[in-house]
Amino acid sequence: MQPSNVLDNASSDHRDLIREVEIGLLSESPSISPKFLYDPLGSHLFTAITLLAEYYPTNTEKDIFSCFETQIVDAIGVGGNLIDLGAGNCQKAESFFNSLKPSNYLAIDFSIEYLQDAVTKLAGKYPHINVQCMGMDFSKQILIPESIPEKNRVFFYPGSSIGNFLTSEALHLLRQIKDQAKGGGLLFGVDLMKEDSILKLAYDDPLKVTAAFNLNILNSVNSLIGSDFKIEQFSHKVIINHTESRVELYLETLEKTTITWPGHSRVLKKGELIHTENSHKYTTETISNLLDQAGFESTQIWTDPKQYFAVIYAQ
Ligand code: AVJ
Repeated sequence: MQPSNVLDNASSDHRDLIREVEIGLLSESPSISPKFLYDPLGSHLFTAITLLAEYYPTNTEKDIFSCFETQIVDAIGVGGNLIDLGAGNCQKAESFFNSLKPSNYLAIDFSIEYLQDAVTKLAGKYPHINVQCMGMDFSKQILIPESIPEKNRVFFYPGSSIGNFLTSEALHLLRQIKDQAKGGGLLFGVDLMKEDSILKLAYDDPLKVTAAFNLNILNSVNSLIGSDFKIEQFSHKVIINHTESRVELYLETLEKTTITWPGHSRVLKKGELIHTENSHKYTTETISNLLDQAGFESTQIWTDPKQYFAVIYAQ
């Protein structure tokens, strides 16, 4: 039985996930959703990415949070109900606990397994905060349990994870957040458009940690659907798409190969690309416009001196 602070709400069931991967692999331009990057090894590889000097988003966001902590807390107000979207190890949210003093903290992630340990530790460390966690694929629909008061809901979405979504999907997510953040708001991070050379290094680092992270999606798919991808037949590829204002990650097929799994197969030609991730880059104008369209009335933006990254509070 699950402890009472653990809710497993609408996390997609196994069969849906298998179907989703199959559809991607069988389509004319094959793709795998970036959410499959985060199996246990992938989650650790992502943590390793955030420690790379070349991967500027994590450190820059952290600097902005600490430099403008007083202003950010003033904008939000203390004692609200903090809802962490894609909480992971909950560290970023925890760094605001002493200043924001939330009454309730709800950690949400795609998979509840990684959350449970972190949340148990947090509950012990902050006995005055009601700490809960929930497994949910919030890209589809955000369902907040009644145990979190409707008033003063502050959604927290750091790391520029919104960059994974197409504009239409990001808008859908922002509208849902706006509807549910009555009297509260959304504190989030977005990566800003910048020179190609910096983006290239951040997404194709010399240690090849990002390459390992990207290639590992094939291991994750192999265990989910029982396919026979061989890592050595693929290589990590990064394309900077200026038209769409995003970094695109692919796995390039190094030799012609046939991938087989129960009930299906897919031929991949030499040089064929499997799309694995989009990482959209915004400007302060494009993100403000999107927030306007989603119905937010006011936005406050904090950036670093190089304008690499932005932290935004929208109400
Ligand atoms: C977690 C989606 C913000 O897009 O920078 C890092 C994922 N992919 N390196 C990003 C990622 C390759 C990351 N996000």
